[in-house]
Amino acid sequence: MNILGIESSCDECAVAVVEDGKRVRSNVVATQIPFHAVYNGVVPEIASRKHTEWIYAVAAEALDKAGLSAEAIDGVAVTSRPGLLGSLLVGLHFAKAFAWARNLPFIAVDHMLAHLYASQLVLEGEGVAGKTETAAEYPFLGLLVSGGHSIICRVENFDDITVLGTTIDDAVGEAFDKVSKYYGFGYPGGAVIDKLAKTGDPGAFRFPMPNLYKGDPQGKGHRYDFSYSGLKTAVINQLEQFRVKKGPGLPEASRADIAASFQKAAVEILLRGIFNALEDTGLTTVVAGGGVAANSYLRSRLAERRDIKSVFPPPELCGDNGAMIAGIGFRYLLRGDRSPLSATASARVKGFKRKYP
Ligand code: KG4
Ligand code: ZN
Repeated sequence: MNILGIESSCDECAVAVVEDGKRVRSNVVATQIPFHAVYNGVVPEIASRKHTEWIYAVAAEALDKAGLSAEAIDGVAVTSRPGLLGSLLVGLHFAKAFAWARNLPFIAVDHMLAHLYASQLVLEGEGVAGKTETAAEYPFLGLLVSGGHSIICRVENFDDITVLGTTIDDAVGEAFDKVSKYYGFGYPGGAVIDKLAKTGDPGAFRFPMPNLYKGDPQGKGHRYDFSYSGLKTAVINQLEQFRVKKGPGLPEASRADIAASFQKAAVEILLRGIFNALEDTGLTTVVAGGGVAANSYLRSRLAERRDIKSVFPPPELCGDNGAMIAGIGFRYLLRGDRSPLSATASARVKGFKRKYP
């Protein structure tokens, strides 16, 4: 079964074709980064306008690269939440029109659940044969880390997660982006800092770990939550110190050290929550998804723990893409789930249960 997956929740205009929820036949991601970089962040109006201009051509290219005509598509899946409302609506309406015109089953899916599904996908040339049926057995611990969300969850099935911990302020990807913006490293910040940090000393600067235990002596309710605003402020204040003490700003030689020290602290915050959750739930597998799951330092730190199995999507499937939408869409459609053509978009996550173990 070939599913067309459409993703337009933020600044990537993406369409993919995935066979049987696993084999990625094509994955076209048209990034709008150059249009937003000048503003150091995503401008919603520009994003929805670009999606409108590009979606048809991106879908045509996805079909072309898959070597399929529209007649060979068996179902359509699209992100309907969470994200920028105007951007979501473009993909949603395109998907509905495609499904309606060809009388195909249609399903609207959650972007965050799709990120979690990305590790189940196999890229062209990777060889499906070498892979087990599922990249990880359910249940496992899910780590969803993107520009808008940071979630640790217990995952029972592709559509059944229980949120154990979240950020109480900024998302981790947002912290990377904001630090990068203040230091003028580049946009979007995550990939830039990851690269810059490779030549830096992570011990050059010490940044504080957030204390989430205030007023809760047992700290039970906060063992998996994160906070990034304190770290972000500390790293930004460091730039002011440079200005005061050493003149106009950051010495060239300190750029990589700041990046490495910040990245280490940001990852330590995630690891603390992950290890606490693994200990309390007894789970031994972590499956990551979302843009920050591409981070090389996070990957290497988790790989160091021999007692834990950590599963990451291929780096090109960590960020927003249509393949993860088509993949999870296939699971719903296979089960007989369908969305009505009256389905709407929503800016926020919906229906995630929250509970402490
Ligand atoms: O999942 P995603 O593409 O979009 C959202 O759903 O938000 O995630 C984008 C986020 C951005 O904040 C970006 O800076 C971050 O993922 N990111 C990274 C890396 N690559 C992208 N963060 C850390 N290390 C990376 N290598
Ligand atoms: Zn995303």
